[in-house]
Formats: sequence, structure tokens, C-alpha cells
Amino acid sequence: MKVQDARYVMSNSDYQKCPSPDLPEYAFIGRSNVGKSSLINMLVEKKSLAKTSQQPGKTQLINHFLINNSWYLVDLPGYGYAKVSKVEREKWEKMIGDYLHNRENLICTFVLIDIRHSALAADLDFMANLGEAGIPFHIIFTKADKLKSGQVASNVEAYRQKLEEIWEEVPPMFISSAEKNEGRDPILETIETYNQS
Ligand code: GTP
Ligand code: MG
Repeated sequence: MKVQDARYVMSNSDYQKCPSPDLPEYAFIGRSNVGKSSLINMLVEKKSLAKTSQQPGKTQLINHFLINNSWYLVDLPGYGYAKVSKVEREKWEKMIGDYLHNRENLICTFVLIDIRHSALAADLDFMANLGEAGIPFHIIFTKADKLKSGQVASNVEAYRQKLEEIWEEVPPMFISSAEKNEGRDPILETIETYNQS
């Protein structure tokens, strides 16, 4: 699929104020700084449609982007950022949870994992919650440029094995690098398949 048009629509703290739920929607979630906003920019081939930062905690609202006038990409705040206050962190986590559990046009989510990290409890717990709520998700490993390709493959394999210990079925996995512009097509093809079904 070619992204011909990508535009910012609005930012909200409340899922009920998001655009009317009449187009398919795909959300990107993961720990702060994992590269959610950068990945969205890579997918739509625009440098700064979604705001990025070296500092964790940049994205603080639910951000809607309209793609090809026919579906939404959603950039969410990260979870698990230790440096904001507990009150603030709980507010974000509630915002994300309310959105994920209630957004009726949400087709599936992409959980982003930094390829350099072994499986972290925060991510495993988050995915377990998605599974329990029946919210479909895929995994995207980010920042693949930070490792040699052999290490990328072995880290993905180790992650897969860890998930197989927990679940009968492991979700589809993608590898990406926003820095090197890698991994776009398989992710867009997955979205296209959902859009057509
Ligand atoms: P929050 O909004 O704070 O939750 O962060 P985020 O998950 O949206 O991360 P963001 O896209 O803002 O990226 C965080 C930092 O990681 C920035 O300095 C990016 O340039 C860097 N980054 C993101 N993706 C990649 C990548 O694929 N490779 C490398 N080397 N750096 C990346
Ligand atoms: Mg962000």
C-alpha cells in the first residue's frame, strides 16, 4: 500500500472526544521512548508528522492521523515512564486503557519493543492485558539499526521463545528501524489486509 496522504487530525486526553469512530483505526503502543512516533513518521514517509524526542514522555495525548482519507493511525503516550509523577503516570495509563478498551473502530494494535531489551515484565503484562481484553495485537521490534543483524535475529528468537512459554499462540512479529527506514512494507500490508476484510 502506498501512503498518498497523511494528515494530523486532533489530540485528546479522552477517547470519547476522538474523531467519530467510522473509519478503521490502528494504534501504536509501548514503553516511553521505544520509538512509536518515529515509526509512524517512517510509515507515512514524513519526518515530523508525529512529534518525537530523545526524552521519554514526549507523546502525552491520543493523537489521530488520517491516512489516505480512509483510515486512522493513532500515536499514544508510552507506559512505564518512571520519571513522571505517579499521579501523572496513572493518568496516562488510565487514558490509554480507556481508549484501548472502548474505542469501537480500533481494529488492532501494534506493541513496540526495543530490540535491544530482553522480555520485560511491563511489556509482558501489557500484552497479557490486551489478550485478556480480546484486543488483537502484533509486535514490532524497533531500533534494529542499533544491533548487528545476527544479534537482531537471535534477540527476536529469544523473545519468541519467551512468549511461547506463556502463550499457545505467538502474535505476528515485525522488525523495524525508523533510523534506516526499514520494515515499512510488511506493516502497511498487514493494515491493508485488515482494511480490505
Ligand atoms: P514517547 O512519546 O516519549 O513515549 O516516545 P516514543 O515511543 O514516541 O519514541 P520517539 O519516536 O519519540 O523516539 C524516541 C527516541 O528514539 C528518539 O530520539 C528517536 O530518534 C529514537 N529512535 C526512534 N526510532 C529509532 C530507530 O529505529 N533507530 C534509532 N537509532 N533511534 C530511534
Ligand atoms: Mg511518542
